[in-house]
Amino acid sequence: MTGEIITLQIGQCGNQVGKQFWSQLIKEHGICKDGQSLNTSETDKVEEDDPTIFFKQNDSNRYTPRALLFDLEPSAIADVQNSFPGLFNERNVWVSKDELGAGNAWSKGYDYGLENQEEFINMIDKEIDATESFEGFQLLHSVAGGTGSGLGSNLLEALSDRYHKKIITTYSVFPSSESEVVIQPYNTILTLRRLIEHSDASVVFDNKALLNLATRVFRDRNTSYEQTNQLIASVLSSITNSLRFPSYMYNSLPSIFSTLVPTADLHFLVPSFTPFTSDFIPGVRDFKKSSAYDVILDLFDKSNSMVLRNNDTPVYLSVYNSILGPTDQADITRAILKSQQRIKFPPWSSSALHVNIGKKSAYNITPDSDKVSGMMLANTTSVNALLQTACSSFDVLFKRGAFLHMYQDGKMFQNGVEEFIESREVVQSCINEYYAAEQETFMDDVLMEEENIVGNGGMLDADGDNII
Ligand code: GTP
Repeated sequence: MTGEIITLQIGQCGNQVGKQFWSQLIKEHGICKDGQSLNTSETDKVEEDDPTIFFKQNDSNRYTPRALLFDLEPSAIADVQNSFPGLFNERNVWVSKDELGAGNAWSKGYDYGLENQEEFINMIDKEIDATESFEGFQLLHSVAGGTGSGLGSNLLEALSDRYHKKIITTYSVFPSSESEVVIQPYNTILTLRRLIEHSDASVVFDNKALLNLATRVFRDRNTSYEQTNQLIASVLSSITNSLRFPSYMYNSLPSIFSTLVPTADLHFLVPSFTPFTSDFIPGVRDFKKSSAYDVILDLFDKSNSMVLRNNDTPVYLSVYNSILGPTDQADITRAILKSQQRIKFPPWSSSALHVNIGKKSAYNITPDSDKVSGMMLANTTSVNALLQTACSSFDVLFKRGAFLHMYQDGKMFQNGVEEFIESREVVQSCINEYYAAEQETFMDDVLMEEENIVGNGGMLDADGDNII
């Protein structure tokens, strides 16, 4: 059985993305906005889906998301609750009593996390108690504001410390380069350090790429967050398709992410999606009918990526595709062969393209239910463009010592700005690791390093963990 997954939504962005995610999931599993199933009994079910990975189910066939909602001010969570009255468990909602927000400062969000950690862990433990075979967390947030970044960072540290054998994935939204708030680069670097050190896999989005994509998909120059979040929710729905509509392959988070993450440090994943059919975006008509062959090749196109690329040719360490709609195996095989000729893999990689043929929901019948669409997660060196932009924006501010006073009250900064310097170094070493991964000897070097660590007197316990 696939284990249950708990979703943590943090801050404005995290909760607004979560709203679109749950909106998509209830459509796909025949659940009304208040959580009541369209089926009055199990025997009415029209398909073999398994919503219980993401929802608790009670005796009267009502579903409640396995989700915890956190924010420092009430408006985003209130909007989620008003949109789905009665869907969420009230006890899983936490809004700070002073309702002031984090004022965009990572240190404020982080300190709220420290002060309330016991309460948060209790809430999470209660949610885990309601699972049979808990598998892991997915955390939705922005890296740039104060709450999703700061409180999110603190929660990430707490999760990896307390539940270190469970898989922790993040869906992390980066600010567009013309960021609205001047201290966003500081928040981004401090959060990136936690993503590098405490998450097992981070799927990254950048708002500039999302806005470009939304303008095209919605044919609307005045794109809204609601629209960008629908794009993100399409990715989340596709990644989890093989868990919610169980198949023989890719039916657990580790089975998906272990194909994508070659070493613990290289765990940033860039999503692409095409075309956005009305299965995902109601009313959208802006696409041509494509075969699985076209879709798989189109997914490599820069314009379908949710992270902006520079002009360097990306090197793909690993690729996972989820294809939905009528496909035939010959089409997929042809597309895989063609892609392998076209794209660049590092010499040490197997050059494999992992493709899951997902299932469309029988509850979500749309004019495009007979059309093919696809999602790609790529572990690629092109993510360095995002990481480097974050570093350059940080360097401009930090060299001038600009706005550092906004952090000085934070507990992490009582003794100075060392945390900024260390976080910047951690991000740089991740960038360097991605460059190193392009080299032929990369895997040999990694294996040699691991051997040295184990050979240095390290002993392993029954789970393969180092005994200290
Ligand atoms: P505070 O407002 O400081 O309490 O923190 P917060 O984490 O609630 O802030 P927020 O989530 O608004 O983070 C700010 C960053 O997230 C900016 O870069 C925004 O552009 C981006 N952002 C905010 N809401 C959304 C959203 O719904 N979708 C997307 N894609 N980006 C968002």
